[in-house]
Amino acid sequence: MGMLKRSVLLAAMLGLAPMWVAAADDAQLTQEARQQTKAFAQALQKTLKQGIQASGPDAAIQLCNTEAPAIAAGLSQNGWQVARTSTKIRNPDNVADAWELQTLENFAQRLKAGEDPAGIEATTVADGEFRYMKAIPTAPLCLTCHGAQLAPAVTAKLDELYPADQARGFNVGDLRGAFTLRKTLE
Ligand code: HEC
Repeated sequence: MGMLKRSVLLAAMLGLAPMWVAAADDAQLTQEARQQTKAFAQALQKTLKQGIQASGPDAAIQLCNTEAPAIAAGLSQNGWQVARTSTKIRNPDNVADAWELQTLENFAQRLKAGEDPAGIEATTVADGEFRYMKAIPTAPLCLTCHGAQLAPAVTAKLDELYPADQARGFNVGDLRGAFTLRKTLE
C-alpha cells in the first residue's frame, strides 16, 4: 500500500471513529436510562399499592406527596437525574421545559395513533446533557386520583396539598405524562 493510500485510510479511520464512539455511547446511555426508569416505575408502583391497601386513597396521596420526590432523589445517582413530568402537572416541581413539552406532544400523538406505550420513548443530546423520556399512559387504577370523578376525601386531600393541581380529568389510555431523565456528559 502506497504512502498516500495509507494516510487516506488513516484519516478516514480517525474521522469515522469519533462518530462511531458517539453512537455507541448513546446506545449505552439509553440502556442505562431504561434501567433507571424501570427501577423508578417499580418503586412508585409498590409504594402506591401499599399506600392504597393500607390506608385508602386520601392517605395514599399523603404518601405520594412525600415518597414520590424521595424515591426520585434516591434513584438520582451515578450522575443521573430521575423525574416525571406532564402537560398537566400536580406537583409544580414537575413542570416541563421546552424539549419535554415538545416530546409530550409527540408522545400523545403516537399513543393516539395506537403505538404500544411500552415503546414510546425519546432521547436527545443538548447543552452537554444526555436526555431520555418515556411515556406514562393512564391505567384504570390512576383514575382514583387523576380521573374526572374523584371521591370527596380524595378531592379534599388534593386541594389541601396541591392547590394548583392540573392532573385531573384523565381517561384510561390518555397520556398521563412521562418519565424524564438526564445525565451530564463529561
Ligand atoms: C393515591 C392517589 C394517586 C394515584 C392512585 C395515582 N397517583 Fe399519580 N400522583 C399522585 C400525587 C399525590 C402526585 C404528586 C406527587 C408529587 O408530589 O411528586 C402524583 C403525580 C403523578 C405524576 C407526576 C406528574 C405530576 O402531575 O406532578 C405522574 C406522571 C403520575 N402521578 C402518574 C400516575 C399514574 C400513571 C397512575 C396510575 C398507575 C397514578 N399516577 C396514580 C397521586 C396518585
